[in-house]
Amino acid sequence: MSSAAPISSVLVFDSGLGGLTVLREIEKARPDLPLTYVADDAVFPIGRLADDVLTARVVSVMEHYIAKLAPRMAVIACNTASTLVLPVLRAKFTIPFVGTVPAIKPACAQSKTKRISVLATPGTVARDYTKALIKEFAGDCKVTLVGAENLASLAEASMRGAAVDEMAIVRELSRCFVDDGARTDTVVLACTHYPLILDRLKACSPWPVTFIDPAPAIARRVSELAGPDGDKSTETGRAYFTSGHTPGPELVAALAAFGLAPVHEPPLKV
Ligand code: DGL
Repeated sequence: MSSAAPISSVLVFDSGLGGLTVLREIEKARPDLPLTYVADDAVFPIGRLADDVLTARVVSVMEHYIAKLAPRMAVIACNTASTLVLPVLRAKFTIPFVGTVPAIKPACAQSKTKRISVLATPGTVARDYTKALIKEFAGDCKVTLVGAENLASLAEASMRGAAVDEMAIVRELSRCFVDDGARTDTVVLACTHYPLILDRLKACSPWPVTFIDPAPAIARRVSELAGPDGDKSTETGRAYFTSGHTPGPELVAALAAFGLAPVHEPPLKV
């Protein structure tokens, strides 16, 4: 396959495979839009990176792919990056950027018990941006922030065909469930990797809650910005991986289910 992208695609970016949960909603909302996926898997998981390192990395990677692919817009399908880097990207590049940030406002609005939890990477829960969302939108809700060290990696492993132990998921998830006389009834999935294992999260929950995945709302925003005219060719969307690793058969099959084929390229040097 040639490495040339379809003209004017929407570039969907994440550190790994989590952004696919956003890509699939964009595809559902706008099957006429060509989509290209970029995973910065060379540095996954980015939840562990220092803020300045992460900012510089995302800017350099985006610079490379914007020059290479000339997308019509970019979706930063990653809470850990969006809550830090969006203003820098918007100031530097002329194309529109759509971000992914914790869905605290809708979660608080729909919670009956007024107990919500935000499940995210340690980076996202520590951000000023996340604290500002709580201050502005949580109102009378008690918000529990849960920084999960390994959950994105577990979701990634599961997509790549590895068996993921139930106890490993329970260890990451259990702090979301608070009972202080009223029980948590809503959990915000504030990392795009987590909807990949939504069934496992439900199965490991000690009581039923509503899990909020912001991807459909992001897809609506992309659709508004794209305007009415898509121009999708019949070509399969392309997926770029910065590590240069050749995806195994399980991953190739998983990507195909999202309408993507991997492009084989050497490791990205930025
Ligand atoms: N998918 C990313 C997010 O939404 C995080 C995964 C990582 O730590 O690299 O935050």
